[in-house]
Amino acid sequence: MALKIGIPQEVFPGEKRVATVPEVVEKLIKLGFTVAVQAGAGDAANCSDETYRAAGAEIIDGAPALWAASDIVFKLREPNTDEVGLMHAGQTLISYIWPAQNPDLMQQLAAKKVTVLAIDALPRTLSRAQKMDALTSQAGVAGYRAVIEAANAFGRFFNGQITAAGKVPPAKVFIAGAGVAGLAAIGTAAGLGAIVRANDTRAEVADQVVSLGGEFVKVDYEEEGSGGGGYAKVMSEGFQQAQREMYAKQAKEVDIIITTALIPGKPAPKLITAEMVKSMKPGSVIVDMAAERGGNCELTEPGQTVVRHGVTIVGYTDLNSRLAKQSSTLYGTNLFRLTEELCKTKDGIIDVNMEDDAIRGLTVIKNGEITWPAPALKPSAPPPAAAAKPVVAPKAHGHGGGEPASGTATAVVFGVGAALFWFIGAFAPTAFLGHFTVFVLACFVGYMVVWNVKPALHTPLMSVTNAISSIIAIGALVQIAPPLAEGMSQPDQWVRWLAVGGIVLAAINMFGGFAVTQRMLAMFRK
Ligand code: NAI
Repeated sequence: MALKIGIPQEVFPGEKRVATVPEVVEKLIKLGFTVAVQAGAGDAANCSDETYRAAGAEIIDGAPALWAASDIVFKLREPNTDEVGLMHAGQTLISYIWPAQNPDLMQQLAAKKVTVLAIDALPRTLSRAQKMDALTSQAGVAGYRAVIEAANAFGRFFNGQITAAGKVPPAKVFIAGAGVAGLAAIGTAAGLGAIVRANDTRAEVADQVVSLGGEFVKVDYEEEGSGGGGYAKVMSEGFQQAQREMYAKQAKEVDIIITTALIPGKPAPKLITAEMVKSMKPGSVIVDMAAERGGNCELTEPGQTVVRHGVTIVGYTDLNSRLAKQSSTLYGTNLFRLTEELCKTKDGIIDVNMEDDAIRGLTVIKNGEITWPAPALKPSAPPPAAAAKPVVAPKAHGHGGGEPASGTATAVVFGVGAALFWFIGAFAPTAFLGHFTVFVLACFVGYMVVWNVKPALHTPLMSVTNAISSIIAIGALVQIAPPLAEGMSQPDQWVRWLAVGGIVLAAINMFGGFAVTQRMLAMFRK
């Protein structure tokens, strides 16, 4: 029999999000489930009971009735004691749980003999899991909103303008921490026309910062900041000192600072000191996205906006609730993708398959038994390895250093290549040699050109080379042309028609290629 998914109203003070939206309800029903929503659950996220009902959900009054009727419960904030009290054996809960921080909650849930999937425990480095990654979707929304809050508190434009009334310089924005939220903030601030700079302890994010229109500001101290799984670690005292000096310099120059720096399981690093706040221009703004975890700025008051030394410090901890509809839609979609994984048979029944890496990572309690933490993923997960390489490799082997055998292998390849070239040079006809030289030079130039193109521009490059490759149309044109001189035979009709076909196809390739290139390049221009 089809299982019922229940959506209770969030009870955490000030929480406006809801775990699913009407658009997603329809998709869940198509997967074979029935859906019940607590009356008023979506009101604060602009999802009325009526819209849920129209999407096919049943509306149930009051939390006790809703929890009692549901086989599976979708929630956002971890359940409080009252909510745990409403659960019944055999029920499944999908929600934020933060098992490391909430051992008591874990015990209470286990005692209820339920199954719990903690959306925050998803193995994020698993590329297959990205569609279910609520931490990422919510951080993206919060990063966007942080910029909007900064713009709201800031007394000037973000973009530079030259008007009859005078010249306005662009705002300078500094982003501390370029994880998911930081990158979203960089993109949004750059989109509004600000000059954006960013810093992170993990060197690998520098390219991402640049690709979003920001400038990466390095700390003048060599130390790798990756702590595994794509996350940061606590840095050495020496690094922190050098970082403070750089941040102090930025604080004097910029108008807005948005801080997003977090280290899993640790309090947020204090990056902006009271002195730095004091040194900022009057009217500057700091948005501290780490406020809930103690804040990156010494003067942040979590949950509040305060003015200190003429600087507005925004410490809101509810940035997602301030864009409740958007956050809820993305969260609902993440849970829907997870439900698809749990219900591959599309018959409204779920299978919590512990053989599946993503599901195993998420499942923190199975039928009352605590299964958290999940064993570490097999080393096949690529990001941590990829992150570690660039730092170690240059020091150990210099440029191009790879496996130990590569030195001999390269020598052999070069030796064989040299012998081949000598053979061709000594024995090939002169005409061939001319063509061959041009070919080798073309390969070399092509390689150098492509190698120097930023990875982000590879797709437009492909389409433009595709367009250029349509030079083969010349071959068809030669075939279609009338005989040029006496004595040349008229090409057969079918050769002509083949040539016409060839020109048509090459033209599609040519004009289509250039059109697609234009569209792609337009995406990189502001
Ligand atoms: P987070 O919220 O834990 O931290 C935010 C940022 O603060 C991180 O970039 C971190 O390096 C930075 N930070 C920490 N201490 C700092 C300090 N002292 N100074 C400056 N910056 C500092 O991280 P978030 O945003 O949840 O994700 C971090 C990374 O995880 C992502 O950027 C990504 O590389 C990785 N990730 C990978 C995924 C995948 O491979 N599928 C999916 C999601 C995230």
